[in-house]
Amino acid sequence: MTSLLDSFNRIHNYLRISVTDRCNFRCSYCLPAISDSKKQAGMQANGIDLKPRQQILTFDEIYRVAKILSELGVNKIRLTGGEPLARKDVEALIIRISSLYNIKTIGMTTNGYYLAEKVELLKNSGLTHLNISLDTLNPSRFKEITLRDGLDKVMKGIYSAIDAGFDALKLNVVVIRGFNDDEILNFVDFVQDKPIQVRFIEYMPFKNNSWREDGFVPYDEIKNNISYKYDLITSDGSKVSKDFSIDGFVGSVGFITSISNHFCGTCNRLRMTADGHLKTCLFSNDEVSIMALLRNGASDDEIKSLILDTLKQKNEMHNGIAGLLKSENRSMLQIGG
Ligand code: 5AD
Ligand code: SF4
Repeated sequence: MTSLLDSFNRIHNYLRISVTDRCNFRCSYCLPAISDSKKQAGMQANGIDLKPRQQILTFDEIYRVAKILSELGVNKIRLTGGEPLARKDVEALIIRISSLYNIKTIGMTTNGYYLAEKVELLKNSGLTHLNISLDTLNPSRFKEITLRDGLDKVMKGIYSAIDAGFDALKLNVVVIRGFNDDEILNFVDFVQDKPIQVRFIEYMPFKNNSWREDGFVPYDEIKNNISYKYDLITSDGSKVSKDFSIDGFVGSVGFITSISNHFCGTCNRLRMTADGHLKTCLFSNDEVSIMALLRNGASDDEIKSLILDTLKQKNEMHNGIAGLLKSENRSMLQIGG
């Protein structure tokens, strides 16, 4: 089998598919402060320009991409967005993807809002891994960051995911100084009696996402905050997350150090945007339209060679902060987290 090898000998077996660019939340660090069209019209408003529905991959197209990539060696898939549960019947897609014989895991990253009503269905459809994003345990702060009332529903979502028996549940917390850095220990305490790994994520700059240097809290500092109260015991992490256990805890703690300690050397990821573009790096503006081929009658082999050629162009690592702030890259919501 051809393998998805780049010029730095990294094998790519992990595909993240954004199934929609829509989201019911409006997190300031995810959305650009001003959309391009509103900017042109001289308006100052939050938001991005969403794609018309015809420019979003259909389930048939997503399935075909997943099948082609699984034939090239992808065995791990994650559905992202926007908010993946904002796409109707997403479980139908999970059932189809899990029928691909070499796919071992199918994960989803969700904001949790619709989870309570969907979680059983997702599990029965073949979803194996679930990550829930939640940046604060305080209802008014929740509204401040997401511009929506919804903490209760997200909490219900978290409890129902535990009840459904997901065994590697993760809670993603983006740490922002002056916003939620005083809640780090509360989050750690939250997982004391729950089978959840709380993962603190370094706040990443994207063009126009109102990233501020003084809002950035590096890994060392987050970890030190926790170490005042708890002994963090190193455990074998994944390549991406630095993982720790705590004596007497059901849950655990992890850190995603994309900025202070990047993990590009072991990167195994490919991304498919909701509008059908393949990206080989979250932080790079390079992308190629697979949708164009899908809709022009291209054969699987033609699509495979485009993917392999694109992968050969993948950079060795992402830019430093200064470069990232200048980069013309799309927003996180458009790329898919
Ligand atoms: N920095 C760090 N994490 C981010 N996410 C979205 N935008 C950013 C950012 N600027 C997170 C979401 C979600 C995951 C997919 O990415 O909170 O947990
Ligand atoms: Fe939606 Fe997640 Fe972006 Fe917030 S961070 S706007 S929940 S996609």
